Amino acid sequence: MTPRRILVTAALPYANGHIHIGHLVEYIQTDIWVRFQKLRGHNCRFFCADDTHGTAITNRARLEKRSEEAVIADMREAHVQDFAGFQIYFDNYGSTNSPENRELCHLVWKSLREDGYVVEREVTQLFDPEAKQFLADRFVKGTCPKCRSTDQYGDSCDKCGSTYSATDLIDPVSTLSGAKPEIRSASHLFVQIERLHEFLEEWTQSGGHLQTEVANYLKGHFLGEPLRDWDISRPQPYFGFEIPDSPGNCWYVWFDAPIGYIASTREWCEKNGQNWEDWWRNPAGEVHHFIGKDITYFHTLFWPAMLKVAKLNLPTKVHIHGFLNVGGEKMSKSKGTFIRAGEYLKFLDPAALRYYFASKQGPRLDDLDLNFDEFVAKVNSDLVGKFVNLPSRTARFIEQVGLSAVYPDDGGLFAQAAKDGEAIAEFYEDCDYSNAMRLIMEIADRANKFVEDRAPWSLKKDPAKAGELQDVCSVAVNLFRQLAVYLAPVLPKLAEQAGKLLNTPIVRWEDAQAPLVGTPLNKFEHLMQRIDPKNVAALVEASKEDLAPTKDPNAPADGPEALQAEPLSAPCTIDDFAKVDLRVARVLTAEAIPESDKLLKLTVSLGGSEKRTVFAGIKSAYDPATLVGRLVVVVANLAPRKMRFGTSEGMVVAAGPGGKDVFLLTPDSGAVPGQRLH
Ligand code: MSP
Ligand code: ZN
Repeated sequence: MTPRRILVTAALPYANGHIHIGHLVEYIQTDIWVRFQKLRGHNCRFFCADDTHGTAITNRARLEKRSEEAVIADMREAHVQDFAGFQIYFDNYGSTNSPENRELCHLVWKSLREDGYVVEREVTQLFDPEAKQFLADRFVKGTCPKCRSTDQYGDSCDKCGSTYSATDLIDPVSTLSGAKPEIRSASHLFVQIERLHEFLEEWTQSGGHLQTEVANYLKGHFLGEPLRDWDISRPQPYFGFEIPDSPGNCWYVWFDAPIGYIASTREWCEKNGQNWEDWWRNPAGEVHHFIGKDITYFHTLFWPAMLKVAKLNLPTKVHIHGFLNVGGEKMSKSKGTFIRAGEYLKFLDPAALRYYFASKQGPRLDDLDLNFDEFVAKVNSDLVGKFVNLPSRTARFIEQVGLSAVYPDDGGLFAQAAKDGEAIAEFYEDCDYSNAMRLIMEIADRANKFVEDRAPWSLKKDPAKAGELQDVCSVAVNLFRQLAVYLAPVLPKLAEQAGKLLNTPIVRWEDAQAPLVGTPLNKFEHLMQRIDPKNVAALVEASKEDLAPTKDPNAPADGPEALQAEPLSAPCTIDDFAKVDLRVARVLTAEAIPESDKLLKLTVSLGGSEKRTVFAGIKSAYDPATLVGRLVVVVANLAPRKMRFGTSEGMVVAAGPGGKDVFLLTPDSGAVPGQRLH
């Protein structure tokens, strides 16, 4: 077999945040694939880097009052540590903010320029007159032009989901200074990707570079019409590389990020006396990208287009995976399911998550669900109950004598498992890990049945059966080793320990083809512990984030308008204030008054049997059904007042000018009806 030259990448994680278990779906999936290829004897390398440029990094730096460089240096250290903790091994881990990357960006840019792909056009954009800079979409907030929800970002509305351009926002505010932005025009550089339409059509739709559903998605969503020019520049200040022939402009982060794959390769090549072009300009080389479905466009249209123009290797395959949910829902900070890699490692064994993800990972784009009960059950039954259990029930019986000199009759178990190797390998190759794990566990089931049938613990009692005991245990330990070979891509640490136990390291896939004979054994050392569900609960608890709003780097500076509309009142004494009896109350019933545009009729409880009927002018702002059960604040000692629809026995406290803009006050959780506000 001629070894394949395989370059593998996983998406470059943003340097503005920590690695979490959602990311790990990808990095574990990729690491398994790379380890598998290496075990098969291929010349396979895994390159990654931190993605360091763009406005998100600037946001974070601003919030932490330090430079972008300081932020990315710390984050890089954290990322590297998390990956190592999960046994994810990169041949090189670079940074997009490196001299190698800058140089390669120049190289790709030169090709785009020379072939006339770049055009310049005026773009109107919001400009902050106080901060004296153009505003990225994330630096503007305002009212959604479609549904009129307030406090929405400049690119999309998270209430109605519509996307729009920042210049369409109603009442925009710069989150940098609180100033009202002006519309100004600036010249941007665009790549005319449409000129490569025919090439992209062919590359995406044939040759097996993409999963079928991805190819179809691109055909349905992008390739049916002309591809829009890609806005590739951002005016400074912007944390990125300045474009050499366009002073004052930087490349947009998504231009230099994928080039980071090549830069990381190049760093490794320089350290290892190799030439990066042997990996990126070599018809005999394969390039495999692993990414999540959210970044499909960049990797399947834009990136191949850039590579094509720069005469670099096109991806052999882009492997796209779905997203991680926890308990059937999106990861949530308040529920404690947004779990950081580093937090996980304080409570649980990384091998457990690697195995669990592998057992759930198919070759398609389906989302993957982490269900904690299933996680505990699967790891305990498969890894501990079936895999680790084999040597833990047998190895110590032959510590003194080693493996039988001739491989005993095992009823064909070893031979069958050796034969299964090719099917398992095919599943790995196709990223169909769940099927690979299924086949491996079937081998483990047969092996365990053998041990139970032959009961070495009974043989042990009869000195006349020492030979049979050695044979039975030699079979069990050999089947364990075979499993360890097949699981080595998923469980590298356990495979290493298996190698130690048997005095023979696992180095190749073929190690599963022939049993070991006559080998001395090392002392059996504990391999893996059952997961205690208490540790899972503790991890979730530790991951819960306080619901108190943390300071949002994008929060707009508060303007003076509200205060100007309603100036402060004359001072009052504490005794004046004490006359007003403000209480926490719970809404029991809420109904609209049909004859009134403004009023809702509420009954609120002050605890026990103490109730108040209150007419509140909040009809245009609140749907009565959403109010029942919630806590509010009422003025409880307001003299009753006769109104057209009945008597109002209090007042619900709210802020805002009126109409739709009325905001009820809610006490923090823990408060109970009847408590007084002081
Ligand atoms: N920086 C870009 C990638 C640039 S590649 C040239 C980016 N970074 S990221 O940190 O947001 O995500 C890194 C990878 O993790 C992406 O492939 C993304 O799809 C994946 N995931 C992030 N959250 C995820 C889940 N919750 N579930 C599964 N994968 C997820 O995108
Ligand atoms: Zn909206």
